Amino acid sequence: MITKSIEWKDNKVLIIDQRKLPHKYEILSCSTPQEVIKAIKSMAVRGAPVIGVAAAYGMALAANNIKTKNKSDFINKLRKVKIELSNSRPTAVNLFWALEEIWNIVAYSNDSSIDTLREKILLKAENLAEQDIKTNHLIGKNGLKLFHDGDSILTHCNAGSLATVFYGTALGVIRAVFKKRKNIEVYINETRPVLQGARLTAWELKSDGIPATLICDSVAGFLMYQKRINKVIVGADRIAANGDIANKIGTYSISVLAKTHKIPFYVAVPTSTIDFNIKSGKDIPIEERDSLEVTHIMGKKIAPDNIQVYNPAFDITPNENITAIITEYGILEPPYDKTLTTILTKIYN
Ligand code: MRU
Repeated sequence: MITKSIEWKDNKVLIIDQRKLPHKYEILSCSTPQEVIKAIKSMAVRGAPVIGVAAAYGMALAANNIKTKNKSDFINKLRKVKIELSNSRPTAVNLFWALEEIWNIVAYSNDSSIDTLREKILLKAENLAEQDIKTNHLIGKNGLKLFHDGDSILTHCNAGSLATVFYGTALGVIRAVFKKRKNIEVYINETRPVLQGARLTAWELKSDGIPATLICDSVAGFLMYQKRINKVIVGADRIAANGDIANKIGTYSISVLAKTHKIPFYVAVPTSTIDFNIKSGKDIPIEERDSLEVTHIMGKKIAPDNIQVYNPAFDITPNENITAIITEYGILEPPYDKTLTTILTKIYN
């Protein structure tokens, strides 16, 4: 049993296999970067921050496994693995961010031997993993002031311990609020097609004893109409410079519902999720996944043969639907093109 969703142990990357939860708690052991890539693609490991850490550990595995005494050969082979890892999933920017963090170590390694470089890469990957946990606790602490006793909070997908190394972003805030105020209730969207809400968020909140109710995605609007939800909080996979966000498919619909019902819509993220190179949500690459995720539920076929399927894994929520973005540096409010840039200096200090 591991307590974090991902861990480095005995030169292997250990991952809680999220495809098996909540019925089976199994650890997937990866000894090669190719196994990490397979785990990311198949969503054995999923969630923006943790796939970044997985990619960083993938680089550490590659560094260990490349057997050459020639440094430029070593770096060329490492670069190839970096490209393969960066092709594993397209939307969450944390993956590319973590790979760049590792690559910076390689790029400034002129004086290091191959062995020293191996050590430095692993150290950096371990550091990114530890940093993720600290960041999530700060996000939780910063989010506290937006929530009150008696709140009834809707969340979508899984932005919890499983989607990060530990604690979570949106669920980190919920955890912090529950610890302090106790009297809260959480509604969990099941999150079709992969059911991250029903399988993972429900499992996490139940394990923590946080009062939670699972709903079909289509129920959220009716709950708002009944005034049974007064806040929404989600994570994100990428935030554009203007504050548009990409998050799990269905997030946009919830944001429109929340706006109609005048319910605050919060997004909780580490600043590694902000992509200052992307101006608006229109430019964020949206992953399309296998049609089997839609035609089947947990391996059981539910649709007729040969039906055409459209299966985007993410959607874009425009900045005007977002009440605030909660980060490890504090709470950002509109206009996001201005407030997001104010934290740039904090990030680089
Ligand atoms: O396809 P997934 O399950 O990787 O998508 C995950 C999400 O959309 C999460 O909400 C997001 O990564 C934030 S996790 C802290």
